Amino acid sequence: MQSEPSSPSAAPVPAAAVAYGCMESADIAAAVRLYLESFPHRVRRWFRDRAHAECFYADVFELMRMAYGPTCFAAHHGGRLVGYLILTVPHTSLTRPLWRGGFLLRVVGHVLTGRFGWSLAILAHAVAAVLRPAPPAVDGPHVYVVAVAPGYRSQGIGTALLFRARAACVPRFGQLWLYAEADNQRAVTLYERLGFRTVHADPTQHTMVWEFREDRFPPTERGQGGFE
Ligand SMILES: CC(C)(COP(=O)(O)OP(=O)(O)OC[C@H]1O[C@@H](n2cnc3c(N)ncnc32)[C@H](O)[C@@H]1OP(=O)(O)O)[C@@H](O)C(=O)NCCC(=O)NCCS
Repeated sequence: MQSEPSSPSAAPVPAAAVAYGCMESADIAAAVRLYLESFPHRVRRWFRDRAHAECFYADVFELMRMAYGPTCFAAHHGGRLVGYLILTVPHTSLTRPLWRGGFLLRVVGHVLTGRFGWSLAILAHAVAAVLRPAPPAVDGPHVYVVAVAPGYRSQGIGTALLFRARAACVPRFGQLWLYAEADNQRAVTLYERLGFRTVHADPTQHTMVWEFREDRFPPTERGQGGFE
């Protein structure tokens, strides 16, 4: 589905008007804009300016989409991307998609021409962050990002995306996990209400695990009503 930039919705949209599916290439630009809007502090921390961040995250999201296509969930309203969730699944090759359609060459070109705007120090920091092992007691699928456009929040879209991720995991895995920034109280509260458990916390972030125990969920949240 072709995506346009997500714009605030003046009034709540009926749940049935939101279409859920998988992210497509055409969604990437809107997904990046929503990410930068949702996490401006990450842009400030890692990039000299927004243009560099846009280029970087467009490459990251495209790689994720090629690798984890069936678990990159998108919510559209009126043709616009209004929310998405990227779930990484263990034992999925991230290197194979690199060779698809000249993707690796494009990224190398972006690095060499300074399109990410990274200094060597930031590059080293980023590599260390990627290679850092997951915290103990955490394994299985990982929610890399979940975001809903500001005008569409508090309408159940984030919950619906999380339940889609959960449904995708259930046949093979007993849990999924994510990081939540310690000061993102709204997200932490939502996860706790759904039954996520904090297994590790430091001053900056919580590591939260969602174990799939069917008895936690009333039937309406298992696939009916506004959640699916
Ligand atoms: C965190 C985030 C993804 C939640 O998405 P969301 O769509 O607002 O989440 P939901 O609507 O499912 O649930 C949130 C709230 O809506 C309420 N809600 C759920 N379904 C609803 C419905 N059908 N109608 C009205 N309200 C509803 C929930 O009770 C909850 O209460 P709150 O407003 O007091 O928090 C969203 O706030 C966001 O994108 N934040 C910025 C990015 C971010 O922080 N991502 C998480 C990183 S860990």
